[in-house]
Amino acid sequence: MAAETTTEAGPGTLARELATQGALTSDWVPAFEAVPRDRFVPDSIWPGRAGMNRQDDRILRTESPELWWRAVYTNAPITTQWDDGAYDGPGRGRTPSSSSSMPTMVFSMLDALSVEPGSRVLEIGTGTGWNAALLCHRLGDQNVVTVELDATLAAEARGRLSAAGFAPEIVVGDGAVGYGKQSPYDRIIATASVGAIPSQWIGQGRPGAVIVTPWGPVYGGEAVARLVIDEGGVARGRFIGSSAFMRLRQQRKRLPRTSEFLDTSKWPLDAHRTTTTLSPDAVGDWICMFAIGVQVPDLFCRVDWGNDGSYRLWLFDTGITSWATADYVEGRSEFEVAQAGPRKLWDELEGAYWWWYQQERPGFERFGLTTRGGPTHEVWLDDPASPVPVMRNNQQ
Ligand SMILES: C[S@@+](CC[C@H](N)C(=O)[O-])C[C@H]1O[C@@H](n2cnc3c(N)ncnc32)[C@H](O)[C@@H]1O
Repeated sequence: MAAETTTEAGPGTLARELATQGALTSDWVPAFEAVPRDRFVPDSIWPGRAGMNRQDDRILRTESPELWWRAVYTNAPITTQWDDGAYDGPGRGRTPSSSSSMPTMVFSMLDALSVEPGSRVLEIGTGTGWNAALLCHRLGDQNVVTVELDATLAAEARGRLSAAGFAPEIVVGDGAVGYGKQSPYDRIIATASVGAIPSQWIGQGRPGAVIVTPWGPVYGGEAVARLVIDEGGVARGRFIGSSAFMRLRQQRKRLPRTSEFLDTSKWPLDAHRTTTTLSPDAVGDWICMFAIGVQVPDLFCRVDWGNDGSYRLWLFDTGITSWATADYVEGRSEFEVAQAGPRKLWDELEGAYWWWYQQERPGFERFGLTTRGGPTHEVWLDDPASPVPVMRNNQQ
């Protein structure tokens, strides 16, 4: 591979970019330098774009070594597997199922983990093995356990880690149950997102242990949570910033099909029709979706695009009782709404939106999470004593 000059993509330029953004802190620089990303990214990749859930077509290292190298040293996620390995073609599969995470995210999460010499770490989601290798460099092989559900990915990661001189304990299994054999841990880091923090993670951490994991509601919006486990087995802490990880395989959102609610060709059927001045476009930001999803935990949405930038936002509940639509048309100040079923889902969304708006539209960093693990959790604003209101309803 050609030597890196100051302007070419390579470890040096990426390190400078990450340091400028504050993601790569001085204590992680030696690991970054000793564990190059190119030793962990596979030969067949689908480069992503920073901040976007989009992937380019496949790049093969054997065919396009320069493009491959540039992708590896771009600060962006790289999809490395689609559809649990079922798709391996030149285009894109349906759902990315493994990746080398965006370097900014990798180092922000490692920084949030606040490791100390001798910290024992459990990682959920070995993927390419890069994160595990960085942890091994910093803490020693004996202090790192990494769990990967996919046996093929785990074997490939083992090969890369070994070639780079690292030998953490690599467990092929379900990280949703942690790995009790090597517990207790001082730090737990998940590189797949959850909607419910598994109680095993909390049970396998010492009091004072830090959990760093992406967390997000069904509706959308997601952020990395940094929680500390207390003596009573409660994990509590703030979100540190926006994220968009793939879900832990067991917690993938399996949402009901639209046809289970209605025949869309017959829209609006007997729906109750009104108008709103709240633009469907105003409620689509990642943080806004997060705030709505936290307040209405069983809400989910789909979008039908028109040819002219207009679209129909569909709202549904996971209990399959109700649906609603809100039609966005550019330049309008009033938008048509249709709602059907016992719940008025657009009204619920509006209520959640206005609550967030009245709190001065807080960003992820003002939110926090308290949980004992499992489906029960409380999201709060600014202070654990100020829970975000949740719309409970008897259809849930
Ligand atoms: C974003 S990738 C991990 C990136 C990885 N840390 C790295 O450095 O390349 C997420 C990984 O989580 C794995 N995964 C999903 N569900 C899992 C589960 N229940 N237990 C363990 N691993 C899981 C996926 O197979 C995938 O490889």
